[in-house]
Amino acid sequence: MAIKKIGVCGAGTMGAGIAQVFAQHGFETILFDVNQEQLEKAQAGILSSWKRLVEKGKLTEEAKSAAGKKLTIAADLSDAKADLIIEAVVEGLDVKSDLFSKLSAQNSNETILVSNTSSLSITQIAAGISNPERFAGMHFFNPAPVMKLVEIIGGSHTANSTIETLKELVKSIGKNPVVCKDSPGFIVNRVARHFYVESLKIAEEQVASFENADALLESAGFKMGAFKLMDVIGNDINFAVTNSLFQAFHGDAKFRPSRIQEQKVKANQLGVKTGEGFYRYSK
Ligand SMILES: NC(=O)c1ccc[n+]([C@@H]2O[C@H](COP(=O)([O-])OP(=O)(O)OC[C@H]3O[C@@H](n4cnc5c(N)ncnc54)[C@H](O)[C@@H]3O)[C@@H](O)[C@H]2O)c1
Repeated sequence: MAIKKIGVCGAGTMGAGIAQVFAQHGFETILFDVNQEQLEKAQAGILSSWKRLVEKGKLTEEAKSAAGKKLTIAADLSDAKADLIIEAVVEGLDVKSDLFSKLSAQNSNETILVSNTSSLSITQIAAGISNPERFAGMHFFNPAPVMKLVEIIGGSHTANSTIETLKELVKSIGKNPVVCKDSPGFIVNRVARHFYVESLKIAEEQVASFENADALLESAGFKMGAFKLMDVIGNDINFAVTNSLFQAFHGDAKFRPSRIQEQKVKANQLGVKTGEGFYRYSK
């Protein structure tokens, strides 16, 4: 199937980046969010990102203007109709399932529906939709315009043709698809969980301050320390993903969520997106 039009649901950290990538690659892209303010913030962020790319010589003025014409924003769910819909709303099974039942009802049976979930079961999310053979996980990494890897996850009913279409699509936007099993956290988030959980334990046990832990991790070759990275991801999302893996692995202690991170979430210290997390950011 030829995918020409992309719908992205959720205009937060990931949805905005994913919409940017597809519009930049010539796909008609519609970005939907329930929050009008967030939609406008996402659109402004994408435009300023393109401006920066032009200034750095990485995008021509013509390509920027062409990409701008491909991107529209929508606050009404009924506008989310496309050949491929990518869901990037908050990491919760109920909210995702509810959204997909509406999306599958208003889109054609040809439409492929995918979730950008970091940890939830693709088979479980697909349970309430009418065409689960056209449903899959499509997991981008943050920041989506930069990171090359995309995990593609088949649920128990996903058709091979759906996986093949998604693999080709990912290659067409210059990224590398890796097909994974529907297992908690797939590959990257399962492995990376220990980077976050162990770093949080170090701070909790006062083995080191979070600033020192980050400095050491960075001097050891990590591009970003765990605390800086959690702030970029969003402490709410990171905490929800750890919770999801902890539950999925039946309370295995190695995935136990952190009290320190829970406090950050409760205090709305979500990281870059709220201006404060482990560190402070100018808005
Ligand atoms: N943040 C990351 O680094 C990262 C990386 C990969 C995958 N993910 C996954 O991507 C998804 C989104 O994460 P994020 O960091 O972009 O979250 P976010 O909190 O930055 O944004 C979520 C957006 O969803 C919107 N939203 C909530 N309910 C909605 C609904 N019913 N319909 C439409 N929009 C709705 C919110 O208004 C918000 O703008 C999650 O499943 C997360 O696990 C996140």
